[in-house]
Amino acid sequence: LGLGATRPKAVLVGPMGVGKSTVGQLLAERLGIGYRDTDDDIVREQGRTIAEIFADEGEPGFRAIEKRAVRRALAEHEGVLALGGGAILDADTRAALAGLRVVCLSMDVEEAVRRAGLNAARPLLAVNAHERWQELMEARRHLYAEVARVVVATDGRSPEEVTQAVLDSL
Ligand code: S3P
Repeated sequence: LGLGATRPKAVLVGPMGVGKSTVGQLLAERLGIGYRDTDDDIVREQGRTIAEIFADEGEPGFRAIEKRAVRRALAEHEGVLALGGGAILDADTRAALAGLRVVCLSMDVEEAVRRAGLNAARPLLAVNAHERWQELMEARRHLYAEVARVVVATDGRSPEEVTQAVLDSL
């Protein structure tokens, strides 16, 4: 595998609902290392859900909290780290990912809306899921490509299959 001294061992990025948490946990199990998720860190630290933070402070407030959480996780965590889907919007965060094993999970629009569109826990897609998704991906596609060392497509694959593909890519 050639897992060297970089920390964390792998960073998962990609749109919400693509399976970063599921695959990240399986990947960590297979590697015998820990799993961490910046959304979970934020919810624990804030004592509020992501939807509540968006409602209270708007997206800019959430992004500021997220930026700090990502910085801390990158500095502390040596296992598999999953970032929230929008973390790569921040230029400093993208710079901090340079040189790390960043794996982007991808999926097509239909799959995305099916998996995440009707999920109230994801405030960005609560209304007009299909259109909002197209906009999000147009705005973000190049940012995922900029930070990712590899892109693993998840369409039609089980979490176990995606995890194996990620392992093969490391
Ligand atoms: C977001 C993705 C979510 C969460 C928040 C915003 C985004 O994380 O951070 O709802 O902007 O794509 P997941 O990708 O873990 O769902």
